[in-house]
Amino acid sequence: MKLENPRVALTRKLPSPVEKRLADLFDAVMREDDAPLSREALLECARDCDVLAATLSDRLDEQFFDAVGDRLKLIANFGAGVDHIDVAAANERGITVTNTPSVLAEDAADMAMALILAVPRRLVEGVRALENGDFHGWSPTWMLGHRVRGKKLGIIGMGRVGEAIARRANAIGLSVHYHNRNAINPHIEKELSASYWDDLDAMLAEMDIVSVNCPLTESTFHLLSKARLERLQSHAYVVNISRGEIVDECALADLIEAGRIAGAGLDVYERGSPNAKLAAAPNVVLLPHMASATVESRIEMGERVIINIKMFADGHKPPDRVILGLDEGRSPAT
Ligand code: DGY
Repeated sequence: MKLENPRVALTRKLPSPVEKRLADLFDAVMREDDAPLSREALLECARDCDVLAATLSDRLDEQFFDAVGDRLKLIANFGAGVDHIDVAAANERGITVTNTPSVLAEDAADMAMALILAVPRRLVEGVRALENGDFHGWSPTWMLGHRVRGKKLGIIGMGRVGEAIARRANAIGLSVHYHNRNAINPHIEKELSASYWDDLDAMLAEMDIVSVNCPLTESTFHLLSKARLERLQSHAYVVNISRGEIVDECALADLIEAGRIAGAGLDVYERGSPNAKLAAAPNVVLLPHMASATVESRIEMGERVIINIKMFADGHKPPDRVILGLDEGRSPAT
């Protein structure tokens, strides 16, 4: 099916070069402001278009697809993670879903590494001490963190972001371990010097730092449950740049408070923003979901959105179609 000059509705403001190109190519309907749309506003904008350029702030569930009518043909998601979209419900109604994998993996991996370094080395605590006037000169015993080199890093979800983290981890002397639904290609495993753990529980008990990089699906919700978090050694750190719901955040906060886990570096939260206990903990570094927030990533994400729409409108299969079941084990990067 070809679409002649498709109407493309944006649900958020996108970087200007992306919006300009969208306007050149399609009948694009932009947002004046950048606030997430209410359910009603989202439906109103989606009913009247062929393509919805959505983002993770749009909840596109079965009820949405029931109510959206039959004009909408493509959800071109600006982002890799599609946990906010009921892809099966979309496909059942003949709506294709695409995302933007790959382009943000390197930037997301940089942010994971920043957290992997920042938490054991107490980077943010140090900055705060200086800002609060608590620095009274160098001391042999003050602000001691832990060495990163030589420690074991356990990556949960060895997709594009996981692999990019593993490359960086090798460079700083971490030993790389991973849990995935399946072991990765042996050549890549060898190149990354990575050891596969089929048994997540067994891996957790041995790691010094755990990095969460799997997508959020029904089977990864609370993958790091209270029971699993309790398996970690008391000197271990948890880093999560993927989706908050993969970690039982209350249990994590309680275990950190009780000294049963050494600290955490988080970019994502179960309920959108961090719980109060985590926000108050000195050994926790919290970021506002910014792992893919570089100008370069966001423009390349926009370019993927445009390529997917163009291919679809020209009657071809868009390159980044989300195929159910296929993407599990790949990271949403985020
Ligand atoms: C994604 O692509 O899903 C990220 O979380 C957005 O930064």
